[in-house]
Amino acid sequence: MSLDDRTIEAIHTGVSAGGSVVFVSGAGISAESGVRTYRGEDGMWTTDGAAAMSKATLAYFSRYPERSWQWHLDRRAEVLSAEPNAAHEALVRLEAVLGDRFALITQNVDRLHIRAGNSTRRTVEIHGHYGGMRCTAGCVGVVPIPNEFDAWRDEPNWPKLRDLLVCLRCGFATRPHVLWFDEFYDEANYRMKTAGSLAARASLCVTVGTSGGVPVAARLAGIAAKAGAVLIDVNPTDGDLRQLALRSPGGAAIAAPASDAIPVIVDLIESQVRGVDRI
Ligand code: APR
Repeated sequence: MSLDDRTIEAIHTGVSAGGSVVFVSGAGISAESGVRTYRGEDGMWTTDGAAAMSKATLAYFSRYPERSWQWHLDRRAEVLSAEPNAAHEALVRLEAVLGDRFALITQNVDRLHIRAGNSTRRTVEIHGHYGGMRCTAGCVGVVPIPNEFDAWRDEPNWPKLRDLLVCLRCGFATRPHVLWFDEFYDEANYRMKTAGSLAARASLCVTVGTSGGVPVAARLAGIAAKAGAVLIDVNPTDGDLRQLALRSPGGAAIAAPASDAIPVIVDLIESQVRGVDRI
C-alpha cells in the first residue's frame, strides 16, 4: 500500500523532531493472526456477551477461583495457537533500527509482540499477559504459567493441574497476570507510570488496532500530543483514536489493516533514520 502525503509528512515531522517513536497497540493488531478482538462484530465481548466480561473481574476470581483460572486458560490456549503477523514483525524490525528511541505500549495480553521478538524492556504490557501468573499473597514478581498447561483443554486433569497454580515461594494461590475490569492500573504490576513517561517522550505516537473502548490508549496519545508528538492512527474503522489523531496538529490516520499499514510506516521511518531519501 502507499501512504498519502499527509501521513508521509506526519511521519517525517515526528521522526525529525528527534524524540521517541511510540506505538500504542490494541487487539486489532492481532486480528489478522486470528486472535479475536473485544468489541467488533466478532469481538469476544460482543459474541460471548456480558457474562464473559463479568469473568474478567477480580470479583469473579475471588468468588470462583477455579472457574476463573479455567476461563483464562481457555483464552491462553486460543492465543498460543496464533502466530505473529506482518505488523508484529515490522515492529521488531523498527526496534532494531531505533533502539532506545523505540517504545511499544500494548493493551494486548496475547504476548504476540514478545513472541515476534520485541524486547520486554521496551514493551510495556499495561494489561499484563496470558503467559504469566503471580502470587495472591503479594510475593513480588510474575512467573510463567507452567508448560503443563500448554496442552490445556485437558479439563479431566484439572485436579492434578490446579496444584501447579501455587506460589513457589509461599505456597499461596496464584492468579492470572492480567488487569481485570474492577482493578486499577499500577506501576508494580502493569508499569503504568512507565507507559506515561514513555508517551511524554514521544515525538511520533502511532495508535494501532484499538477502538478506544477503554480510555487508556486515548489518554496515552493525549499525553504524547501534549508533549508535542505527532499522532497517527491505524485502523480500518473510524473511531475515537482516528478523530483524535486527525484533530491533533500535523496528525494523520491510515484506514487500513495493521499488517498492510505498519510495514509501510516502518519502511519509511527506517529510510529516514538511515538517511535514505525515499520520502
Ligand atoms: N488492523 C487494525 N485494526 C483492526 C484490525 C486490523 N486488521 N481489525 C480490527 N481492528 C480494529 C477495530 O476496528 C477496533 O477498533 O481494532 C480495534 C479493536 O478494538 P477492541 O476490540 O475494543 O480492542 P482494544 O481497543 O484493544 O480493547 C482495549 O479493552 O476489553 C478490554 O482489556 C481489554 O485490552 C482490551 C481493552
